[in-house]
Amino acid sequence: MEILVALGDIFGAERLIPIRSVQIAGVSFKNIGEAGLEWISEMEGKVAVKSVLNPAGMDLLRWKEMGISEEFASRQLAVVEAYRKLGISTDCTCTPYNIHPDMARRGDHLAWSESSAVAYANSVIGARTNREGGPSALAAALIGKTPYYGYHLDENRAPTLGVNVECDLAGSDYGALGHIVGKVVGGGVPQFHLAGRPTQEELKALGAAMAASGSVALFYVEGSGPEPFAETLAKDAKEWMAVDRREIDELYAANPGDDSDLVALGCPHCSRHELEGLARLLDGQSVERELWICTARRIAQDCPDLVDRIERSGAKVICDTCMVVSPASERYRKIMVNSGKALNYIPGLCGVKAAFGSTEECIRVATGRN
Ligand code: F3S
Repeated sequence: MEILVALGDIFGAERLIPIRSVQIAGVSFKNIGEAGLEWISEMEGKVAVKSVLNPAGMDLLRWKEMGISEEFASRQLAVVEAYRKLGISTDCTCTPYNIHPDMARRGDHLAWSESSAVAYANSVIGARTNREGGPSALAAALIGKTPYYGYHLDENRAPTLGVNVECDLAGSDYGALGHIVGKVVGGGVPQFHLAGRPTQEELKALGAAMAASGSVALFYVEGSGPEPFAETLAKDAKEWMAVDRREIDELYAANPGDDSDLVALGCPHCSRHELEGLARLLDGQSVERELWICTARRIAQDCPDLVDRIERSGAKVICDTCMVVSPASERYRKIMVNSGKALNYIPGLCGVKAAFGSTEECIRVATGRN
């Protein structure tokens, strides 16, 4: 309660409001270390609302196959156990909305941490959440409330920058677009005028990339999204920028992946629909380089046939973790991704070069086809 009240005082919140759910970052032992584990272990009580975890530093079952050390694994399992004792679901994923749709509905107030999940919750689901830190999310989970400020308030949800995109986009192009726009809009609220209608997965990729290259927590796409655009039109963005095909193609060209020694997909974690697409691309193929496909354990458990089809190629379906938060990535030289977010974070957080390509291009590199 002291953490929540202090946060509320800093940001001028007049009160705490009830929340529907919490998503807690600060799970990978790589990021929180011994001090974080100690802090979580000292907490007592049970969470007041449904709460889930962000990805951990390893697949909680297949960590040996990832080359994770016994020492790291024991500390990571202790972190997850400390959270479990507080009543927190040990689903470790950045896409909790794919496995627990009841966690966030339009108009709900939430306290979520992971930046891509925050952008998705605000922009695609139409719920309301600030980008919580690990400690404030855990505090909100135990109390069941969060301070009423920031993106919980109407006045902070108006678009600040319009983005006009006349070219057709598909798949990872949305990650590229997010990478470009996030750098310009920073912590603002972009409003997109697009030529086509993005899928839910494309919106996920767009928000994730903007949350990484900028700190975007909310965006609008005209003609889609839960808050009908007409509701915000009165506050239409005053400044506009344009992004064209040339800029998107330049991002691919600047980050070629043929010399990658790991191809890692699933940032944010793959949905079932994305696993279906990957299974189709990998049918009858065999990989020549390490290929990871990251997803939530429940998604993998729900579609064992797809996992089997994918893994027959030699690819690994990795659960509970990702290429950015696992120390297993650090032993590679160059990681190829189809995600604008991973492209942005891998060099700084893993100390490894990153390459960027479409999903099809990533599979081509992994399978060594010409
Ligand atoms: Fe999720 Fe890891 Fe990307 S937490 S959004 S897969 S960096």
